[in-house]
Amino acid sequence: MAESNTDTKSSNQMWGGRFASGPDAIMEEINASIGFDKKLFAQDIRGSVAHATMLAHQGIISPDDKDKIVHGLNTILSEIESGNFEFSRRLEDIHMNIEARLATLIGPAAGRLHTARSRNDQVALDFRLWVKEELEKTEKMLTGLIAAFLDRAEEHAESVMPGFTHLQTAQPVTFGHHCMAYVEMFGRDRSRVRHAIEHLDESPIGAAALAGTGYPIDRHMTAKALGFREPTRNSIDTVSDRDFAIEFLSIAAITGMHLSRLAEEIVIWSTPQFGFVRLSDAFSTGSSIMPQKKNPDAAELVRAKTGRINGSLVALLTIMKGLPLAYSKDMQEDKEQVFDAAESLELAIAAMTGMVRDLTVNTARMKAAAGSGFSTATDLADWLVREAGLPFRDAHHVTGRAVALAESKGCDLAELPLADLQAIHPDITDKVYDVLTVEASVASRKSFGGTAPSEVRRQIAFWRARN
Ligand code: ARG
Repeated sequence: MAESNTDTKSSNQMWGGRFASGPDAIMEEINASIGFDKKLFAQDIRGSVAHATMLAHQGIISPDDKDKIVHGLNTILSEIESGNFEFSRRLEDIHMNIEARLATLIGPAAGRLHTARSRNDQVALDFRLWVKEELEKTEKMLTGLIAAFLDRAEEHAESVMPGFTHLQTAQPVTFGHHCMAYVEMFGRDRSRVRHAIEHLDESPIGAAALAGTGYPIDRHMTAKALGFREPTRNSIDTVSDRDFAIEFLSIAAITGMHLSRLAEEIVIWSTPQFGFVRLSDAFSTGSSIMPQKKNPDAAELVRAKTGRINGSLVALLTIMKGLPLAYSKDMQEDKEQVFDAAESLELAIAAMTGMVRDLTVNTARMKAAAGSGFSTATDLADWLVREAGLPFRDAHHVTGRAVALAESKGCDLAELPLADLQAIHPDITDKVYDVLTVEASVASRKSFGGTAPSEVRRQIAFWRARN
């Protein structure tokens, strides 16, 4: 019962002045964020050290109190890092847990740390610092994934495989070219990460509760000390903005979508029916009942993690969309979404990087598949345009008849006798067989960005210089 509960509780030591009793147990449970925001301890302490140093520099607190505060905060940092810190749910969040411990360690000087700031700008700062570090980590991980693809692309610049549209064999391509498609995708993701770092590179501390402060603080000093380009410009926006977290989640969702498409391809390619690639033992699992099986579990889980990441993005967009300016407690729910998505994204990038580096490519199988399904039909049509002077539409029609004939005979285009081809169009000569092989097909596609090995090598050189 709420009433009897209150008897046993003292009011909160941070704002107790106005409160006669402490919170109901349910209030404490719904209100507390320490269970997840303890992850922000290092950022919180860095922020407080920078803030206290600035307060002393501006003559707002004494150098002596500043020294006590900084010393106490460093002690707390090592207590938390070594697992010797007792987090308390009654103290709600990481900010108040640290401040309460500081008071125990250094006494009254601790009470001066919160001068000219609020938990609203404090949490905006801590979370921004955390997201910035996570973005920097993501950038590095994407660079690793791109490097893995560049190596595989180089190795397989000439390996022919079927290129698909509608998952139907379309035209022969090289495996190197296909790998480079992923390099473009993850390259775009990485540039989104870099832009996001640029966007969030503004320091929130000093916005205070929402209106700024009357103390003569120096926000440029704290911004510099914390590694930000500059301070934010509007204190109301500063404490009500979570765009940086939403941008992180959008990038995670887009990157996750790319990783999931790759995972899906690996699942398809590693089936016995396709047999294009074989996963290493390190990135597959067996079946407890079917001894012949080797399952692409890691790829499937990467595909599934995308669902969680998308969920986090939608959750935070929904949390934010109805909030009046400035801060509302709803915003406390931002962190779990970002932490969960960050963990999923890191795992997914690491797993795909390992899989790409380790997988064995069955080039013979890919080449055989590349030649089936009349994949060089376009090459025959192009030959008729080039060598026999037909308009492309007519050449397409003639080729269609050749494909129908080969299909009825149960053979490939290259296996049709010359007499059969000449019966369809008299200008066809035996030179046509030169373009009907898959190697000739890919080698001819030298247009910028095309699948010819020479073009793929040019693409690789472009990205090597940028990775
Ligand atoms: N734990 C809170 C959060 O994560 C800190 C800010 C609290 N501010 C407030 N006005 N109650 O958002």
